[in-house]
Amino acid sequence: MPVFPDPHPSGAVAPKIPSQFVPRHVAVVMDGNGRWANQRGLPRNEGHKAGEHSLVDVVAGAIEMGIPYVSAYAFSTENWRRSIDEVSFIMRFVTEVLTRQLDTLQSWGVRVLWSGRKPKLWKSVIRQLEYCQEQTKNNTVCTLVMCVNYGGRAEIADAAQALAQDAAAGVVKPQSVNEKMLARYLYHPEVPDVDLFLRSSGELRTSNFLLWQSAYAELVFLDVLWPDVDRLVLWDAVEQYARRDRRYGGAVDQVAGR
Ligand code: FPP
Repeated sequence: MPVFPDPHPSGAVAPKIPSQFVPRHVAVVMDGNGRWANQRGLPRNEGHKAGEHSLVDVVAGAIEMGIPYVSAYAFSTENWRRSIDEVSFIMRFVTEVLTRQLDTLQSWGVRVLWSGRKPKLWKSVIRQLEYCQEQTKNNTVCTLVMCVNYGGRAEIADAAQALAQDAAAGVVKPQSVNEKMLARYLYHPEVPDVDLFLRSSGELRTSNFLLWQSAYAELVFLDVLWPDVDRLVLWDAVEQYARRDRRYGGAVDQVAGR
């Protein structure tokens, strides 16, 4: 039986929000580790280390709120442009985080999924991601999608390529290709669209994260660096989300004074 995460050290509890206003899928861009470290006179990698706790605490907060899917952007298809030192550190670090946190995630009933491209990604990282997927595959409390060597455009291009191959093989009729069909070729078609897209560190961009899935996501940009994020920050963002008016292109008259 899964155990509930320990409460936040402040004793705070998750805000009570009607279930229809709780996001099903929260995407997080864990940005600001480097700046957090540099502000303290430390190298960027110390910021990544400090961000491990934030990720685990956000997952705890998601469980407490009943959020079933969290996607975490840990390494993008563009992050290979960073220094060799930082790339090597992140490769080792992602493996270590998964190793260190697997028991906790397992005890909470978290299913881990990996989303991303295999080419270029270190074999040790792929092995650990696949091991975590296998070990947690029957967990149902929450799904944590670790996006490693992930790019939104890469995912759509990979889907288009797989679809084109099926069309060339005669499995799919080109004229029947539509949005619904393309979506079935994404890395994890079973994961619902993103409802709440969070980015820490004050940067106002989505940086190629979950482009397809975030078409109608509510965006919340946090003026907090990732290592300072915890479940309280998540809950605050969810409260903002719950107040938003999601129209999906529909609109109704709201004439003033009536
Ligand atoms: C995207 O912004 C941000 C990321 C891909 C997050 C990177 C996060 C880590 C390396 C830390 C991993 C932490 C854990 C706990 C596993 P970008 O900087 O690639 O995009 P930009 O250049 O547009 O700002």
